[in-house]
Amino acid sequence: MIENLPKEYINTDFGDKIYDEWYLTHGRFNFESPEFVRQHIPFYEQSLGLSNKDFILDAGCGIGSYTREFNRKGYNIIGIDLSENFLSEARDITKSEELDIEYILGDYNEMSFEDEFSVIFFEGSFFYKSRDGLVSLLSRIYKALKPNGKLYFVHPNQEIIKKNYP
Ligand SMILES: C[S@@+](CC[C@H](N)C(=O)[O-])C[C@H]1O[C@@H](n2cnc3c(N)ncnc32)[C@H](O)[C@@H]1O
Repeated sequence: MIENLPKEYINTDFGDKIYDEWYLTHGRFNFESPEFVRQHIPFYEQSLGLSNKDFILDAGCGIGSYTREFNRKGYNIIGIDLSENFLSEARDITKSEELDIEYILGDYNEMSFEDEFSVIFFEGSFFYKSRDGLVSLLSRIYKALKPNGKLYFVHPNQEIIKKNYP
């Protein structure tokens, strides 16, 4: 199926252009507010059929907005992000909220988890640089998931991106 995708669908990675200095300063508003996150958790719980037995990887967790909210609701979750700055902020907020969450500094395109998670969750963070990159990422996700594990991601709509950023 991936072979048939038009060329413009094979790269969603604009992250290196905006992370993370801009995001932590002028682009700050791009992180959802705790209120917004809280309101949307029921949607994920329902659509992913989550239970407290799940072990979730929050891939591209940023400052941990979703990681913390899932954790607060009793889910077992860890976050991974390649930005040291975001993770440092994630850890500070997590500590100040008296939560205990593991955050891993790393690139999910390099992850080598095996049979570990029942859910892998990408919220606004599913990026890859090429068709091969996408295939490699999907196979790493497949390996990292337990049997019957679930993957959630949002994919940018290339038509809208092209229209807004021709
Ligand atoms: C739009 S932010 C979303 C952050 C978080 N999921 C949220 O919704 O608040 C995208 C995040 O993905 C991270 N990211 C991008 N590519 C990544 C990669 N290959 N491995 C790990 N994190 C990545 C960025 O550092 C950034 O924190």
